[in-house]
Amino acid sequence: MPAIHLGDEAPNFTADTTDGTIDFHEWKGDRWAVLFSHPADFTPVCTTELGRTAGLKAEFDKRGVKVIALSVDPVEDHHGWAPDIAEVTGNALNFPIIADPDKKVSQLYDMIHPGEGDTSTVRSVFVISPDNKVKLTLTYPKSVGRNFDEILRVVDALQLTERMPVATPADWTSGEKLIVSPAMSTDDARSRFGAVEEVKPYLRWIEQPAG
Ligand code: BEZ
Repeated sequence: MPAIHLGDEAPNFTADTTDGTIDFHEWKGDRWAVLFSHPADFTPVCTTELGRTAGLKAEFDKRGVKVIALSVDPVEDHHGWAPDIAEVTGNALNFPIIADPDKKVSQLYDMIHPGEGDTSTVRSVFVISPDNKVKLTLTYPKSVGRNFDEILRVVDALQLTERMPVATPADWTSGEKLIVSPAMSTDDARSRFGAVEEVKPYLRWIEQPAG
């Protein structure tokens, strides 16, 4: 299967989920989406990850992001596991989990990495924009749980850099200083943003504009 690159259209699919059968693009509509895979149901790290994601619903909603998970387990297992997630983490599932026992979606998105032990999915993340373009990919091994604050942080950065000609520095979080896009002249940046601190001709800082 061809690799999925940033800027590619996120491949569409139909799949069985805990919320019924979906057409992915229809389900997503013109919203941002996070599609993420986990290796298997009834496993410890995955239980913490799905509970954490459910607990962040208000944060995803605030950013207009729909969330959907996936594993190669059947939908009956997803339903059977859901009460454990609620019990252990205190967060009931509030997003669909794709059941992909025939590995159709996992293969489409290259979520199975044979060197990682077996034919279950690794911990892949795809952030997809309203126009269905892949904006970010992350791949974690099965043994390492993801940092969901980082996923929210990167959504903030993606949404901001789509709206204005800026880039975000190392370890940036929302509200901190931004870098003027290298494609913009300092004069144009001053006209658009006001004060620009030029540390180097290629490194120009601005305060994060309101809104
Ligand atoms: C887990 O979710 O705990 C897990 C799943 C597969 C391999 C290692 C850990």
